[in-house]
Amino acid sequence: MKKVTAIYPGSFDPPTNGHLDLIGRGSRIFDQLVVAILRNPEKSPLFSVSERRRMLEELTAEFRNVRVDTFDGLTVDYAAKVKASAVLRGIRALSDYEYELQMALMNRKLRADLETVFMMPAEQYSYLSSRLVREVARLGGKISGLVPDLVEARLREKLDPAAKLSE
Ligand code: PNS
Repeated sequence: MKKVTAIYPGSFDPPTNGHLDLIGRGSRIFDQLVVAILRNPEKSPLFSVSERRRMLEELTAEFRNVRVDTFDGLTVDYAAKVKASAVLRGIRALSDYEYELQMALMNRKLRADLETVFMMPAEQYSYLSSRLVREVARLGGKISGLVPDLVEARLREKLDPAAKLSE
């Protein structure tokens, strides 16, 4: 039987419980799932690519068919490189749909045999985004329950380096 590999591309700055929820769902329907972090020199991220990679590796260690990688260039080219036949993306609210549809159709134009599969995270994460997590954390709001404990700790260290020293 043919084994299906999917990639789950994104920025993951930082990984949230919504991302993890989707990784869990993806790992149940695909034989192999590659969480692929975009190395995007244009953005100024909060966490470096290697920090994000380390966090995601720790967070996905329990999934035997999930691995973490980084990529640059086109998603379709990276998918071809790892022999993936599907791209996994999460859709939270209707507002995601337009952007995701555009990307999915552009990717299909670039590589017709690559399917985009949309999955919905659990509803308690439907309003969650890395951008909002960064903003709330930066302004001192509570983010517990929105990101894994490990990410919460790294965020605290990142935004208040003195916190690490006082531990
Ligand atoms: O988590 P994000 O930031 O929503 O992820 C966006 C991502 C990485 C999936 C998208 O920006 C992407 O695929 N970038 C790679 C470059 C590319 O292939 N661009 C054309 C997409 S149609």
